[in-house]
Amino acid sequence: METLGRVLVIVPTYNERENLPLIVERLRAAVPEAHVLVADDNSPDGTGAVADDLAAADDHVHVLHRPGKEGLGSAYIAGFRWGLAEGFDVLVEIDADGSHRPEELPKLLEAVGEGADLAIGSRWVPGGKVVNWPARREFLSRGANIYTRVMLGLGVRDATAGFRAYRAATLEKIGLAEVNSQGYCFQVDLTRRTVGNGLRVVEVPITFVERVHGTSKMSGKVFTEALWRVSLWGVTGLPGRFRRH
Ligand code: GDD
Ligand code: MN
Repeated sequence: METLGRVLVIVPTYNERENLPLIVERLRAAVPEAHVLVADDNSPDGTGAVADDLAAADDHVHVLHRPGKEGLGSAYIAGFRWGLAEGFDVLVEIDADGSHRPEELPKLLEAVGEGADLAIGSRWVPGGKVVNWPARREFLSRGANIYTRVMLGLGVRDATAGFRAYRAATLEKIGLAEVNSQGYCFQVDLTRRTVGNGLRVVEVPITFVERVHGTSKMSGKVFTEALWRVSLWGVTGLPGRFRRH
């Protein structure tokens, strides 16, 4: 772990007041040396104040308050910028709702330690699993990944996955300033930028557990944005040096 340098785990939140203390506690236990940054979009349920309390009690916990709901992608970009400015070496993405198990984070960090520029916690590689997802949601995720594979040919089985570890150097190389994706297609966008720049992506099997508290922020808007952006990227080809067209 020492060779990895400093690790920052970014937790985006929108109405996750019940989940946040649980995920932060598990993260702090699973990887005690890592810092945690909560990126809250002024959640109406008061998640921001819960985050402030957690930060006041623990010098490894930080909070980024954003003025309103601007989407998962925009929350992560703000979090990455904060982390890069603070000099972190590895930046991690994780959902606040317990779907990504902090106890599996060491596996992702190990993959980075072994040379991955981006490690993805994948549901759709051998050994990966999903627990408690309705059939409809599994169909949607598998379908989205098949469509993405056909359109973009990234060689990644779970391109929409939201449990990831990036080397800081990866984020510095892939042109964060040009990322416009707001919703969950942000995950696909950063995957294609990483592959397009010739960087190494490693998928690590994980078990994704559907949330118990609160509700998903998946919406028609998030889905529609993903569909049109992935279709567009299929036409424009990969960004970076490894352009196909
Ligand atoms: N700050 C902020 N702003 N956070 C957000 C926003 C937003 O606009 N939208 C969602 N989040 C946070 C949620 O609070 C949660 O911590 C995390 O992002 C994931 O949101 P969920 O609503 O729980 O996502 P999901 O379970 O439906 O979707 C999962 O699967 C997707 C498709 O594979 C996630 O893992 C996604 O990352 C993934 O792309
Ligand atoms: Mn979720």
